[in-house]
Amino acid sequence: MTHARTMLVTGGGIGIGRATALAFARQGFHVVVTDVLQAEGQGVVDAITRAGGSAVFMPLDVRSTEAAEAVVAAVQAAHGPIDVLVLNAGIAHKVPLDQLTDARWDHTLDIDLKGMLRVARAALPAMRGRGSGTIVCLTSLMGLAWGWAEHVHYSAAKAGVIGLMRGLAAEVARDGVRVNAVSPGYVRTAQLLSEEHSIGPAGADAAAARVPLGRIGEPADIADVVLFLASDQARYITGQVIVADGGLAISPQ
Ligand SMILES: NC(=O)c1ccc[n+]([C@@H]2O[C@H](COP(=O)([O-])OP(=O)(O)OC[C@H]3O[C@@H](n4cnc5c(N)ncnc54)[C@H](O)[C@@H]3O)[C@@H](O)[C@H]2O)c1
Repeated sequence: MTHARTMLVTGGGIGIGRATALAFARQGFHVVVTDVLQAEGQGVVDAITRAGGSAVFMPLDVRSTEAAEAVVAAVQAAHGPIDVLVLNAGIAHKVPLDQLTDARWDHTLDIDLKGMLRVARAALPAMRGRGSGTIVCLTSLMGLAWGWAEHVHYSAAKAGVIGLMRGLAAEVARDGVRVNAVSPGYVRTAQLLSEEHSIGPAGADAAAARVPLGRIGEPADIADVVLFLASDQARYITGQVIVADGGLAISPQ
């Protein structure tokens, strides 16, 4: 049993999850990188260990309750209760309403919302038993403040993440566990730069002009907010959404 603090991130192979894994590793955490992208996840682990940090990759598809429970159980057996859980894995598929079948709705909700429940539910008993721990969920401006045309299922899932986060926060607060969320605006990742499913590179440049702080967010901008929420500096914050959007939500479009 090691005594370094342990963090686990879902979808940690690329994008915001990757930046978050690297940020926690720099703070001395043992980082458990999970993802369906094995090569990318292992690449993050290699980068952390090359820099002198401690990390391991574990494959995890958040659509599987059994897999979520097995990964959490293995981490707990090796390191004790997880200190920081970052529920980041998500997809954002563009689907116009006339093509939004039950199956396509369920697919997004299964990953973006229920996927977070599965991992939180597995990790919380040990956190509550020890009386400490914190969870940070990734929501979106598209679920908090805006609707997103042709992404009704994504907006619904991300709004649902806020409800999930608040419910969990209320249920576990008296056990010393905090649960919060970060809402990015536009962040330069594969998700945003997809022409097929999001605004693409040209859209990102156009969006940057509308961001009051003058640029699209970088994954590290979000990772730093996750670090803050997970830190002792945020010890009196639970059940909240912190918006990190360069001022988008408060500026006229
Ligand atoms: N990029 C943005 O502008 C933006 C804005 C708001 C919110 N977000 C949210 O931030 C989070 C990270 O997004 P990103 O931009 O880094 O996206 P990304 O596409 O770069 O990364 C998403 C990660 O989730 C993983 N993933 C997808 N399906 C999975 C599954 N079934 N099981 C496990 N992992 C799975 C992917 O493999 C990938 O590693 C997501 O929840 C996203 O909705 C992103």
